[in-house]
Amino acid sequence: MSLSILQTLTGHVQAAFAALDLPPKQGRVIRSDRPDLAPFQCNGALAAAKAAKKNPREIAASVVEILTGNPDIADMEIAGPGFINLTPTDALITSRANALAASERTGAEHVAQPQKIVVDYGGANVAKPMHVGHLRSAVIGESLKRLLRFRGHDVTGDVHLGDWGLQMGHLISELEHEQPDLPYFDAKITNGYPTESPVSMDDMARLYPAASAKSKDDPARLKLSQEATAELQAGRAGYRALLDHFITVSIAYLKRGYGELGVEFDLWKGEASVDPLIPGMIDDLIAMGITEESDGALIIPVDETYDADKRKGIPPVMLRARTGAVLYHTTDLATLIDRKNEIGPDKIYYVVDQRQAMHFDQVFRACAKAGWYERDQLEHLGFGTVNGKDGKPFTTRGGGTLRLADLTEMMRDAAQERLAASGIGQDFDPEELEDIANKVGMAALKFADLQNQRTTNYVFDVERFVSFEGKTGPYLLYAAVRIKSLLRRAAKQGVTPGTINAVEDAEQKLVLTLDHFDDALAHAEDKRMPHILCDHVYSLAQAFSKFYAECPVLQDGVADETKASRLALAKLTLRQLTLGMGILGIDIPERM
Ligand code: ARG
Repeated sequence: MSLSILQTLTGHVQAAFAALDLPPKQGRVIRSDRPDLAPFQCNGALAAAKAAKKNPREIAASVVEILTGNPDIADMEIAGPGFINLTPTDALITSRANALAASERTGAEHVAQPQKIVVDYGGANVAKPMHVGHLRSAVIGESLKRLLRFRGHDVTGDVHLGDWGLQMGHLISELEHEQPDLPYFDAKITNGYPTESPVSMDDMARLYPAASAKSKDDPARLKLSQEATAELQAGRAGYRALLDHFITVSIAYLKRGYGELGVEFDLWKGEASVDPLIPGMIDDLIAMGITEESDGALIIPVDETYDADKRKGIPPVMLRARTGAVLYHTTDLATLIDRKNEIGPDKIYYVVDQRQAMHFDQVFRACAKAGWYERDQLEHLGFGTVNGKDGKPFTTRGGGTLRLADLTEMMRDAAQERLAASGIGQDFDPEELEDIANKVGMAALKFADLQNQRTTNYVFDVERFVSFEGKTGPYLLYAAVRIKSLLRRAAKQGVTPGTINAVEDAEQKLVLTLDHFDDALAHAEDKRMPHILCDHVYSLAQAFSKFYAECPVLQDGVADETKASRLALAKLTLRQLTLGMGILGIDIPERM
């Protein structure tokens, strides 16, 4: 793949810096913050002048002098204290445009050093319906996974189900209360349990909250759940068999829910799956001498400055509670060992609510103490909450937890209404229209989530999300679909894409935007922030829209080569939009 325009210009300016005996790295070119003056700039003369104790404008002038006549640079201008504004030549822009059009990945490079990466996301809990709290982990995690994979890394996505805590004890004890005669509760029976699950997803969704509510103000009831949890973890056969049913039924349900969101996991492991590793792990940790007994519990201190009374510092990791039960820390530590054994990752990213930051800090510190991973191999990629218009976490009208299925239905309905109000697709057959409404609703939901800086909270606003105007998913879909329809019309007229010749301002701006794709991907990876890619696809849709308004493609009177050139630009734009939106998990309909 040829160099981007930015890289080409950087090469020239760095060579000029070198020729002046200045550090070449200061000749770095960046996209201009004043694109109205010039698309690129180099600010290096300022830093170079400081070090060389010279006047920055003089240095800039020397650089300009060296570069004068360079066939890739149409114009240079020194601005302010010594910024160099740079405008590439038409020839450079055009040759890059054709290189992008010839590139299958529209200019996106593969990373030089692919890594093995595990993305831990989703994190749904067995027996609990998916709710709005699971949305962000799924949507952000999926897009990060796709981004890293697209960049060439070897990525494994793991849902890491919550299936080993007190909620299992709640379920078991409540089920025993309801159906005490089931063979799972007879301690004398240790095998040959029915293959059919005694509970459905709906049963579990009823049993769990019932047990949890009763336990709130009844310590004896809570104790039953705790005992069941401890017995399950100690390996009681009937309870294990029940757990297997709970997990199987839940996974079938979750696969549907995640599937609707277009989220797919490579691994459906969970906390329970690492249970066999826990005894050996605890022995190892004890043998390393990094554990301590505290009030009958087994802990790993992770912060010397920790002071429980003053509530300062990071509390220790809880390896084993006084009851003998293992906890969330323990299963996350054992999962780190499991991943080391099974995958050997260079990096593990945890896409989990920001409110769990302390948990991961503790786990990572303990892990570094044990010497299993370097501290920088593990990263918690936290995210903010989805809020209602009142600024509080988003709930149903009545204040209850909003199920994810209800949320997606809400988006679909809003999309349907918006399509009808805009008169879009009303003459299509109902099946296609439904598919379009579904895609519009999903695009609206995902883009609204992903376009925010991951760590911030955002307000859920259906009407704004489904709007075809502004920075929304539907706006992007509309832009992409418009190009598809242009390509269909061109095919009908027998016009085929040809060599690109970018001469008009809007054409050149479109090429410069297209040329930024690889940088945007690299930057999004670097920060692990999908909103950077959202910004790119949105600018691309805007640049196309401007181009389309100013540069007729198929109109009578447009020269054949111009038609072919503009059509090629449109096709390239569609390919890049499709790639970029695909990474964000957004599917584009054929027409709208
Ligand atoms: N099940 C957890 C929850 O609902 C999220 C799991 C996140 N991943 C992890 N490795 N701890 O809070």
